[in-house]
Amino acid sequence: MPRPARLAVVGDVHLAFGSEDVRALDRQGYDAVLFVGDLAGYRPGGGLEVARHIAQLRTPAYVIPGNHDGVHPAQLVAEVLESDAAARLLDRGPLLLRQEARLAALAEALRGDGGAALLGGYSRHRLEGAHAPIDLVLARPCSFGGPRLSFRPYLERTFGITSLASSAARLTELLLACDAAHLVVLAHNGPAGLGARRHDMFGCDFRREEGDFGDPDLRDALEAARARGRTVTAVVAGHMHHAVRGGGRRPMSREVDGTLYVNAARVPRVFREGARELRHHVRIEIDRGRARAEEVLASTAPAASLDGGGG
Ligand SMILES: [Fe+2]
Repeated sequence: MPRPARLAVVGDVHLAFGSEDVRALDRQGYDAVLFVGDLAGYRPGGGLEVARHIAQLRTPAYVIPGNHDGVHPAQLVAEVLESDAAARLLDRGPLLLRQEARLAALAEALRGDGGAALLGGYSRHRLEGAHAPIDLVLARPCSFGGPRLSFRPYLERTFGITSLASSAARLTELLLACDAAHLVVLAHNGPAGLGARRHDMFGCDFRREEGDFGDPDLRDALEAARARGRTVTAVVAGHMHHAVRGGGRRPMSREVDGTLYVNAARVPRVFREGARELRHHVRIEIDRGRARAEEVLASTAPAASLDGGGG
């Protein structure tokens, strides 16, 4: 009888990850650590420092880039303005602005010396161990969320993805190719379809009219896979920070039709409570086809200073 699988999910890091996290996560004996992305903050280079720390993990780690990873600030502005013209213009600039070069540097920093941490996207990985086998699918990298394909020049050049429809088709292919006992999806932003109010798991809290800010391509792929008989055990993501603008918090997890959805984006993930410094992640246990999630706040000695921030 296989033992339950135990996975750690680290939400949007935004520079808040260090050697204390490496020790705490390795001590837990997880089968894998899943990073939903946004390692970087707003300062160029911060993501690489985080990646070098992640590379120190002895536990296998998988990272999907967020909309802050491998991205030049000017590119981020073009996406915020939803300007395809500006995005194309910047993409024709020097190699420095090309996301693939920046993401290659991030992947190299994650590999470190041991190669235990892997940067992926539109990719499938098999987790083996004393637990039942798990297929892990990494969804669309650098998702900004909502009904628009963000960072299109990069996706087109690297993956041949030109629309949300082609992204959904690619993700569907990946899901249907899975045949392990369990299937877990790691995405930067969660799927559409989980609510259109500001406090919903991936709801829009930055516009007055609210709305569903989940990824439509991921929703379509999950629906297509289910229609073909594939059971999805868990979908883990972040991006939409737990604290909702205007007050309130999003749910950290929710089960719908046998699939566990997790939003791990507690930002900042490292914070102080009284004299204690707490470091957040989400623990997922998968046993006999069922996944459960719980928040973990590891207590460490207060550091002299903490990097954090949102976005
Ligand atoms: Fe993000």
